[in-house]
Amino acid sequence: MADNQIIDAAKEHFGEVVAQQLERVERLKNEPDWLDYSSISPIVVGMLGGDGIGPRISAESQTVLEHLLKEEVDSGKVEFRVIDGLTIENRAEHLQSIPDDVLAEIKDCHVTLKGPTHTPEQGDGWPNLESANVSMRKELDLFANIRPVRIPSQGIDWTFFRENTEDMYAVGSQGLNVTEDLAMDFRVITTQGSRRIIDAAFAHARRTGRDRVTIVTKANIVKTTDGKFLDIAREVSENYPGIEWDGWYIDIMTAALINPARQQDFQVLALPNLYGDILTDEAAQIQGGVGTAGSANVGKQYAMFEAIHGSAPRMVREGRDQYADPSSLLRAGAMMLEHIGYADIGSKLHKAIDICGQYERKIVMTGRSTGSTSAEFGQYLMDTVADPSIEDRWQEYVDASG
Ligand code: IPM
Ligand code: MG
Repeated sequence: MADNQIIDAAKEHFGEVVAQQLERVERLKNEPDWLDYSSISPIVVGMLGGDGIGPRISAESQTVLEHLLKEEVDSGKVEFRVIDGLTIENRAEHLQSIPDDVLAEIKDCHVTLKGPTHTPEQGDGWPNLESANVSMRKELDLFANIRPVRIPSQGIDWTFFRENTEDMYAVGSQGLNVTEDLAMDFRVITTQGSRRIIDAAFAHARRTGRDRVTIVTKANIVKTTDGKFLDIAREVSENYPGIEWDGWYIDIMTAALINPARQQDFQVLALPNLYGDILTDEAAQIQGGVGTAGSANVGKQYAMFEAIHGSAPRMVREGRDQYADPSSLLRAGAMMLEHIGYADIGSKLHKAIDICGQYERKIVMTGRSTGSTSAEFGQYLMDTVADPSIEDRWQEYVDASG
């Protein structure tokens, strides 16, 4: 092909991407306001088991959550609903990362708790579907990926607000092989998309009594898109007198997170999608690994809470799935409780997971028959939440791990 033909084809492709994103911006300008859960009854919670060990830890999580919300479930204020069908087999059969009927069921719920879902990659035998996580974030416009990392004994209490719908993820499957030798991807950052995530971070800081928000970019190099993110931060900060903000570059931030002299400096952090993807894995590792972290994907109308570990298909193949650890999904469940208006129970569940999983460890999970089952561990958590001295036990954990 002649150069001008190649360039024309590239222009056409780029034109389509731009047209889609312009439409998206229009939708963002007209987005609905935040849902008020206190005015909804019943609040419908969808349980999405996902793949591998997912259904097992999901069932266990449901048992624990229904127990903790017994009154609300009995009175019909909260309803749990199991949604099958978000499995890799079903997604492959329909050639859709979320089959239409499953998506419709999801949209009938207000919030969902999602187990791990396998993301196909080239050469693994599954059709090359978009990640179910990414599709769900886009379909439900779950723009805020909120990932807390807490190590009380080290004074670490970070909440990451990772933008969840833009950046390299917005059109990550629509890159262009211009020629055999030239590949290009596109990065999308919008005013509206930046404003809502940065505003959510500042609002969270204000609500939780923090006085600083840290913005992470690489605006010295990626000048146009990261430059915009930073400009918007400057703008939003003006609505939050009393909350300071500072800007860090992603490279030095990865160093600062593991620098004991700096770790206590950070409180609430807001950052574009891909930097957030990477930095939150690092942060979770500092806390004990991605298996220990939960993650909230929050939009104004829907919210999805998920474990951020994989689906461990080998455990299922070897018949060990009843020994799978539900902690991470229950962390996500605790965040869900906080989100839908049960902050007290959510906070107790967080503490019970700390006490049972990190400190007392009276029942230990090893992932095989040498340890306890998910159900035994779930019972241990329920007993701990019900214990009137849970606060003392938690304080002991904090002191002991110092
Ligand atoms: C995460 C994961 C996902 C992401 C994958 C599974 C698509 O790494 O939730 O951080 O890249 O966002
Ligand atoms: Mg990730």
